[in-house]
Amino acid sequence: VGVAEVLPLVAERLGAIRGEESERGEPVYRRLVAALRRSIEDGALPLGARLPSERRLSSALGLSRTTVQTAYRELEALGYVESRRGSGTYVCGRPEWPSQPRASAIPKHTFARRAKAAGNTFLLDLMHAASTLHRYAFETGMPDPRLMPVRAFHAIIEDLFSQRSAEWVSYSPTQGVPQLRQALTHTLLPLRGLHGVRPEEVLITTGSLQGLDLVSKLFLEPGDTVLVEEPSFPGATQIFRSFGAELVGVPVDEEGLVVDHLQEVLARVKPKLLYVQPTLQNPTGAVLSARRRARLLDVASRWRTPIVEDDAYGLLLGQDAPPALKARDEEGLVIYLGTVSKILSPGLRVGYLVADEGLVRALSHVKQLTDLHTSTVSQFLVEGWLTTADVRGHLRTCQRVYGERLRLALDCLRRHPLIEPYIEPQGGIYVFGRILTGIQAARLRVESAERGVIFAPGDAFAVAGGLQDCLRLCVGASDLAALRVGLGRLLRLVEELQTPA
Ligand SMILES: Cc1ncc(COP(=O)(O)O)c(C=O)c1O
Repeated sequence: VGVAEVLPLVAERLGAIRGEESERGEPVYRRLVAALRRSIEDGALPLGARLPSERRLSSALGLSRTTVQTAYRELEALGYVESRRGSGTYVCGRPEWPSQPRASAIPKHTFARRAKAAGNTFLLDLMHAASTLHRYAFETGMPDPRLMPVRAFHAIIEDLFSQRSAEWVSYSPTQGVPQLRQALTHTLLPLRGLHGVRPEEVLITTGSLQGLDLVSKLFLEPGDTVLVEEPSFPGATQIFRSFGAELVGVPVDEEGLVVDHLQEVLARVKPKLLYVQPTLQNPTGAVLSARRRARLLDVASRWRTPIVEDDAYGLLLGQDAPPALKARDEEGLVIYLGTVSKILSPGLRVGYLVADEGLVRALSHVKQLTDLHTSTVSQFLVEGWLTTADVRGHLRTCQRVYGERLRLALDCLRRHPLIEPYIEPQGGIYVFGRILTGIQAARLRVESAERGVIFAPGDAFAVAGGLQDCLRLCVGASDLAALRVGLGRLLRLVEELQTPA
């Protein structure tokens, strides 16, 4: 493949991607990365092909040289290309991730429109990063596997497989196995202030992400508005967008969602849903204050706005955690989502949704079309753990360990003020920070990956664009020693990159 053949192809794909994603305000270098990746993955740029020089590509596409440089370095960090000194940049495949199959015989233009929204690779990349070995992996929202009760799981599995195979080898109810729904109402839900929930009001989901998908399927038509926090969790915003929803961001500060702002927005638009994480918001770690919780429920009631409360991290906050919004929801406007991913294991893919019985029934109807039911083995594993383990003791350990890690990370940032926390998180596993030296997170990430340090770039969490100077560090999966070294390396790099060579 010669350079002359490559240029029009990349230009065409960049144009197409621009069209598809312009409303998302993605930086140009990302779109260029996507265009080149797409070309490599479908074989248009085969293994060994030489990419145009940075100078040539920048002038051919009318992009700045820095944009092309950043894109090439990102592709290199992702393992798609390698640069050979004095010779150029070559496609080298994607060594640790099998490359995508060649273009399908069924053309892409026949795909539904939502396939474009699913084209965003942020979550795919995070999942991939979770299974690869960067030493200082601060990118994926992973709890520490060393804290997962593997021995207890072993005993439960042994019992399940030797004594109770009839219970898990066949299909199980779409709404979730009754024993697990019952166990949740006695264990995890009361810990979040949700007392007296009946099993009929609980739906087991395949991760809480599926809860978001089911809710979207039930409520959203293309063109509907969903209000979300700004910044927000890309897993959620991607799902809403895939149903054609327009997203409107409401800012978050130290007290969580700015409810005054929400009120102003509600005077202008009529959203189908409001998606919030009131307790340890991802990415900022904000906790909605008691005062704002009460006001939020008032405002939602006044405007009859259904709230999707994502409480993925609430159990990590400890004794001072405010009860879930759902605990004060007298009108049934709150759909509550929980998960065992951050306290037990994300690999089990067990989440739970709490809503009134009618809504749970309607959502079960949607779920039957998606996956019939969540893995029965996973459900029994979680149920076995909830009914036999010292759940509170385990949560206290998680809170203590993550608390130490968070404090250490915040100390490092305080001592070397190059990255400033967006807000000071009170718990959980994330620090969202702004880089103060003017360097963009994407560029920093390319350089830091070479030193074994990865993090999530802030712009992925932006709803209306921006946040290119922000990053999210997950401190959950690294012990104190690894955090000290990894953050030290990152901060040194930020310092080096601000000094002109
Ligand atoms: C806010 C939030 N909601 C949901 C999820 C997804 O969780 P699950 O593994 O239960 O699908 C995550 C994972 O990072 C998250 O941060």
